[in-house]
Amino acid sequence: PASDPNLVERARKAKEALGERLFVLGHHYQRDEVIQFADVTGDSFKLAQQAAARPEAEFIVFCGVHFMAESADILTGPGQQVILPDLAAGCSMADMATFDQVEECWEALEDAGLADGVIPVTYMNSSADIKAFCGRHGGVVCTSSNAKRALEWAFEQGKQVLFLPDQHLGRNTAVLEMGMSLDDCVLWNPHRPNDMAAVADARMILWKGHCSVHGRFTAESVDDVRERVPGVNVLVHPECRHEVVLKADHVGSTEHIIKTLQAAPAGSSWAIGTELNLVKRLAGMFPDKNVSFLDKTVCYCSTMNRIDLPHLVWALESLVLGETVNRITVEADTAHWARVALDRMLALP
Ligand code: 13P
Ligand code: SF4
Repeated sequence: PASDPNLVERARKAKEALGERLFVLGHHYQRDEVIQFADVTGDSFKLAQQAAARPEAEFIVFCGVHFMAESADILTGPGQQVILPDLAAGCSMADMATFDQVEECWEALEDAGLADGVIPVTYMNSSADIKAFCGRHGGVVCTSSNAKRALEWAFEQGKQVLFLPDQHLGRNTAVLEMGMSLDDCVLWNPHRPNDMAAVADARMILWKGHCSVHGRFTAESVDDVRERVPGVNVLVHPECRHEVVLKADHVGSTEHIIKTLQAAPAGSSWAIGTELNLVKRLAGMFPDKNVSFLDKTVCYCSTMNRIDLPHLVWALESLVLGETVNRITVEADTAHWARVALDRMLALP
């Protein structure tokens, strides 16, 4: 549905009143009604870079999810405040690796005499605590656009990688981009005892986490769309299961998905395996191409969708009135070590 014109006008006025004091970042999965107010849109990597790009802005309003706003707080200066318009905008994948679970895993690796050779690598989609854990233990953060480079860097430092928390991004990158075999990977289940002999033999120790949105695409979704749409190109996000990515034609981050469609010839057909707000936007942006959703069922990210126009207007108007609502702050020691891991990512060649 079209955005409420009254709210659109209020958001516009509040932005105007705040001027250069305000910088609005928007992830590609945000609703159209919100993304229209973003000064910069991007994938997780671009948004992490951009967070630090406007040191003069007092307020960074982050239209995305909690782990992204935490990273923005870590990467911005002390005089800057990061605001998440709805605090319920979390990420179920990030919640699948808690600090205590990761500490327990590390203790088990230490007891088995393995920890010295293990480099922890965490996907951006994790809490600041987990990023700090990686910073303290010589590890790095990665996003879907630099996972291969981060893994190459990690394997230069150690014999094994503990990859948190998305098993699919870890497996897809190791097997499809780095030439490892499925047997080089072992799953770490935080809820059950793990086979330490198998863990010792693996190169990649994959945390048993996943994205419930991308997890809904199946190999049958790909077969089905190929039957329905002759000549279709299947383009998916690396958070999809391995068998889906194996069957796809192209894989990449949200920014990569957009660039691939931009470069595609008019008249070509594309089935996209990622969140629905982005796929619908792409269909509107490229009317000369046949863009469809990879699955027949609707697949929004419910937490990304928590940021809606009423919450954005509330956050902006509060700032105009001199009140900061929903500020995201990361405790100093955690922020320090998380920054170490984030800076290692930002310095990757
Ligand atoms: P991108 O970094 O590809 O935008 O992926 C982000 C994501 O999954 C947000 O949940
Ligand atoms: Fe988290 Fe998946 Fe939503 Fe991304 S799409 S924010 S990984 S739940």
